Amino acid sequence: MDSRSRTVTGASSSKPKTLVDTLTSALVNREAKSARRRLTVLPRTAADFSSNDFLSLSTSPAFRNRYLAHLNGTPESFPFASGGSRLLDGNSAYAEDLERFVADFHDAPTALLFNSGYDANVGVMSSIPQPGDLILYDELVHASAREGMRLSRATARKMFTHSSPAALRDVLAAEIKKDASITNGSRNVLIVVESLYSMDGDVAPIKEFIQVVDELLPCNNGYFIVDEAHATGVFGPRGAGVVQHLGVQDRMFIRVHTFGKALASHGAMVLCGPETRDYLINYARSLIYTTALGFPFLASIRTAYELLASGETESLRTRVQELIKHLHQRLGGLQINQSVVFEVDHFPTSPIFSLRTSQPRRLASACQDTGYIVRAIMPPTIPEGSERVRVCLHAGNTEEEIDGLVRTIQSWLDGSSAHREAKL
Ligand SMILES: Cc1ncc(COP(=O)(O)O)c(C=O)c1O
Repeated sequence: MDSRSRTVTGASSSKPKTLVDTLTSALVNREAKSARRRLTVLPRTAADFSSNDFLSLSTSPAFRNRYLAHLNGTPESFPFASGGSRLLDGNSAYAEDLERFVADFHDAPTALLFNSGYDANVGVMSSIPQPGDLILYDELVHASAREGMRLSRATARKMFTHSSPAALRDVLAAEIKKDASITNGSRNVLIVVESLYSMDGDVAPIKEFIQVVDELLPCNNGYFIVDEAHATGVFGPRGAGVVQHLGVQDRMFIRVHTFGKALASHGAMVLCGPETRDYLINYARSLIYTTALGFPFLASIRTAYELLASGETESLRTRVQELIKHLHQRLGGLQINQSVVFEVDHFPTSPIFSLRTSQPRRLASACQDTGYIVRAIMPPTIPEGSERVRVCLHAGNTEEEIDGLVRTIQSWLDGSSAHREAKL
C-alpha cells in the first residue's frame, strides 16, 4: 500500500472534521506561529503608548465640553439615530453641512461621509476602478484598500515596493511595455498609497510619485488615491494632512481622511470632485447598504474639525512633536548588546515608532507589566520577518512616562542579552 492509499483509507474511516474543528485548527496553527490574535483590555491607569489618539483628544476637556454643547444645542425632537442608509432616511442637513465644512477645511471640491475608514476604502477601491484599468499599490497599504481592490473590476493590480518611486517607475514601465494603450490614455492607472503609514510611521514620497506618473503617463490618465488616516489631525496645516502640507491637493483624485484616530471620533470622508462623489453615492456598496452614522457621531466629527480649524489643537501638535524628539533621543541612547536583534525604526516628526525585535510579544509584555501600554505587531498584519513593538506618542504623554518606558526597554534588552549569553 502506498502512502496515498493509506491516507484515503484513513480519511474514510475517521470521523469527518466539523467546521468548528477546522476553525480550531486554524487558531492552533496561528498559536504555533505566535500570531494568534486576542481581545485584551488593558488597565486605564497604564500609560498609553499604543492608541491612535495622537492628540489625546479623546480625554480632552475642550473636546468633551464642545461635544456636549453640540449634543445639547439641538432641540429634543432632533433624532439621535440616523434611521437608515444615507440614500433613504439616514441623510440630514447636519450631515451635508458637515461634509461641506470638512471639504472646505481640506481645500477639496466635495466630501462624502462613510461609516468608517474601512468602509470608505472598500467603497472607493471596489467601485472606482473600471474594467480595463490598472491599479498600482504600495505593498504596505491598509487591509481595507486591499479588500476593496479584490472586489474591483480592474483588469490588473500590481504591487510596488514600499514608498519607492523607482519601484513605481519599474512596475509602471513594465505594464506600459506590455500594453501601449496605457500611454495613449485609453486605460486608467490608479496609484494607491497612504500618506503616513500606520505600522512603520513613515511619510510617503508623494511628490516623487507624482513626478514618475507625470513622466510616464503624459495623457493624464494616472489617478492618485491617498489614504490620510494616520496623518489626519497630526500633519499639514492645522492637521489637514500631508497632501495639503505638500500643496498637491489638486493632483489627488481621491483623499480618504478617517476620524477614529487623532480626531477621537468615528467615520471617514472621501474628498473628491462632484462627479466622483455622485458616482460613489450610486455605486459604493459600503455606503449604500448600511445605516448612516447617527447624530452623536456627526457631532463628534464636527467637534474635532472645529477644534482643528480654530487652531485650538495647535498646542497639542507642538506638544506631540516635543515628545517625539524626546523619545527619539532616549531610544538613541539605548545600550544594545550585539547578541540581541533589536532596531529602532523612526521617521523624523512621526508619532509612530517601530521597535524591531524577533520577540515582540515578550518585549510588549515586559512594558505592559511595568505600566506602559504598547502592542506587539505580528504577521499577517505586517509582512513576515518584520515583527515589531509599535510605540505611539500622544499629546497627553509625559517625559517621565517616556523615560520610564525606555528604562523598561533597556532592562528587557539587558535581560534578554543575558539570557542569550547564558544559552551560548
Ligand atoms: C491606513 C488606514 N486606513 C484605513 C483604516 C480604517 O479606518 P477605520 O478604523 O476608520 O475603519 C485604518 C485603520 O484602522 C488605517 O490604518
